[in-house]
Amino acid sequence: MAELADAYGSGPYGVTLGGSNPLVSTNFSGMPNPLPQQNPEFVRRTFSSIAGRYDFANHLLSGGLDFLWRFRVSRLVAASQPSRILDLATGSGDLALALQKACPSAQVVAADFCLPMLEEAQKKSVAHLVQADAMALPFSGATFDAVTVAFGLRNMASWEKALQEMHRVLRPGGLMVVLDFSLPARGPLREIYRLYLHHILPHIAGWTTGRAEAYEYLGESIEAFPRGSDMAALIETCGFQCEPPNKMCLGIVSLYAARKSGRSSPGTQADLPHLEKPGI
Ligand SMILES: C[S@@+](CC[C@H](N)C(=O)[O-])C[C@H]1O[C@@H](n2cnc3c(N)ncnc32)[C@H](O)[C@@H]1O
Repeated sequence: MAELADAYGSGPYGVTLGGSNPLVSTNFSGMPNPLPQQNPEFVRRTFSSIAGRYDFANHLLSGGLDFLWRFRVSRLVAASQPSRILDLATGSGDLALALQKACPSAQVVAADFCLPMLEEAQKKSVAHLVQADAMALPFSGATFDAVTVAFGLRNMASWEKALQEMHRVLRPGGLMVVLDFSLPARGPLREIYRLYLHHILPHIAGWTTGRAEAYEYLGESIEAFPRGSDMAALIETCGFQCEPPNKMCLGIVSLYAARKSGRSSPGTQADLPHLEKPGI
């Protein structure tokens, strides 16, 4: 355990679960927030309760398009030729797996604060799993060449704090990618989608997972989450240079790619002083 903790830099560590891809646990930052969908305890409890059915519900509710969305992220990340990638809020690990496939020589670290979700990722043989709160990451600064977060930032208690942590652990010049739901631009499509989101999706999700309440706030969280130029502006206030947002599927999903200012070549030991090759 100590060996792993050292491998992942500074930070408080708890339990390591054994196996070929052990989980490393860390403390969590408690941040009070009035919205249930951003309350860390609520979020963790919710994902714990649906972990075993999460993938099935995900693929069903997106009509399988979630594979395509993660593939787009993995291609974008691969183009920057990273050596070390951090996938935050990795959940059951599908993006981490897509990243590993797109970047076979890179080390992909997959982090989430919900143990049952990480256990699902472990079943799929995601190699490097860390239980950690995205708002208090147990990694030294400038550790990663790329940091990704798919459908996770929206549920965090402070979007700014999480983006600032991503900025901290990213090397200068490194790539950050946020993938998340958004609302289509004005018009009938937006209203139809809202109808689906608030009145149809929770029923299908309830039937699929047996936990309709877990999806009760999904629509609300999408409504409240900044999108388009607002999201790009938020990302820039956290120190990144953000590319124009990339809307997918008529705007129901958006991809934001941003770089940390500064220049340094990817994956050099000088850039990544605290992440040694872990013995896992
Ligand atoms: C909707 S799932 C997304 C999982 C995966 N990225 C995907 O694309 O399917 C959201 C995940 O974010 C995680 N999460 C939410 N807030 C977090 C936080 N503050 N720190 C770490 N993980 C968090 C949840 O535990 C959950 O596994």
